[in-house]
Amino acid sequence: MLALQENISLQPYNTFGVGAKARWMAMPGSTEEVMDLLSHNRSERDPKFILGGGSNVLFTQDFTGLIIHPRIKGIEKVRESDEFICIRAGCGENWDDLVDYCVRNNLNGLENLSGIPGNTGASPVQNIGAYGVEVKDCIESVEAIMMSDCERIRLSPKECKFSYRDSIFKHELKNACIITYVTYRLSKNAVFTTHYPDLQKELKKYPEVNVKNIREAVITIRKNKLPDPEYLGNAGSFFKNPVISKQKAESIRQSFPSMPAYKCDDERIKLSAAWLIEQCQWKGRKIGRVEAYNKQPLVIVNHGGATGNDVIEYAHMIQQSVSKHFGITLEMEVTVL
Ligand code: EPU
Repeated sequence: MLALQENISLQPYNTFGVGAKARWMAMPGSTEEVMDLLSHNRSERDPKFILGGGSNVLFTQDFTGLIIHPRIKGIEKVRESDEFICIRAGCGENWDDLVDYCVRNNLNGLENLSGIPGNTGASPVQNIGAYGVEVKDCIESVEAIMMSDCERIRLSPKECKFSYRDSIFKHELKNACIITYVTYRLSKNAVFTTHYPDLQKELKKYPEVNVKNIREAVITIRKNKLPDPEYLGNAGSFFKNPVISKQKAESIRQSFPSMPAYKCDDERIKLSAAWLIEQCQWKGRKIGRVEAYNKQPLVIVNHGGATGNDVIEYAHMIQQSVSKHFGITLEMEVTVL
C-alpha cells in the first residue's frame, strides 16, 4: 500500500508560503497508486483534499485529514492529424513546463497561458485563463478517478461545464475525483490570440508574431505586473472579476465614467476587480505582512510570516470596502481551507 506521511508542513506546498500542517499526506505517482490509495481509503482520515501545485489555495489552519498530492508525470503525443496534435499530460507535470514543451514543438494554443504557476491537473479545475485565452479552448478530455468507488472517468469539455474560472470540478465533482491526466488539442497552424491590449503592445517589440515570441511577451508582461511566488508569497488573482448586469454597470458608470468594463453577452458586463480594489484605496496598502500588490492589487501578497488568517482578514476588508462603495460582492478565486 502507498505509504502515507504524517504531520507534514504544508509551507513548501502552497505558493502563499503560509505555515500549516497536514495530519496525513500521500503522493501517488501513477493511476495505480491513486487506485491503491483510494481502495485503502479509511474514513478516519477524512476529510480529504486534493492539492495540486498549491498555487490557488490558502490554508488558514492545520488540516486534520489526508492531503492527496498526485505526482503523475509524463507528456505524450496521443493523436495527430494534418491540423492538430493531441498531447496527454500527467496531472503532476508543472504547467509552465507543458506550455514550454508545446512552444518548443511549435504547437499553438497554450502560449498565452505561459508563466502561470501550478500543475497541469489543476488547469481544468478553475479553467485557467490569461491574455484572451482560457484553457478550455484547448482541452480535448480530462481523465479522473472517482474517490467513492475508484471508477475511472473521462470527461469531454462539454461535460466539464467550463465557464470563467469555473468548471464541474468546483461544483458537482468538488473533492469527489482525482484528475490524473489532461489531453490538450493543439494546432499545428499559426492561429494566435493577440487582441488583449497589454499583449498587443508588448508584441510590437518583436519582429514577428509567432508562438515563441508570444510566450516571451506574456512572460515579460507577467514579470512586470505579477509577483513571483518564489520571492513574494501569493496565489495569483485572489478574487474573480465580477460579472454584473448591464443595468447595474450603467448605474455605476454614471458616477465613475472611466470605469473599465467588458461585455460578456447582451445582458452581462465583466468589471475589473483590480480597478474596483484600487478605487477603494487598497492598492499597495500594507497591513502587517499582507498587501494588495502595488502593481496589481488583485493579487494579495504575503511579505513573509503572514498567517492564512491574516490574509483572509485582509481579503474580507477589501470585500467590505468594494461592497460599500460599489454594491458589488467580490468572489474569492482562491480556495480557502
Ligand atoms: N487595473 C487597475 N489597476 C491595476 C491593475 C489593473 O485598475 O493596478 C485594471 C485596468 O483597467 C486593466 C484591468 O484592470 O485594464 C485588467 O487588468 P489585467 O490585464 O492585469 O487583468 P485582470 O483582469 O486584473 C485577469 C486574470 C489574471 C490574468 C490577467 C491577464 C482574473 C481573476 N484574473 O486579471 O489571472 O493574468 O487577466 O489576462 O480573471 C490569475 O487568475 O491568477 C491571474 C493572474
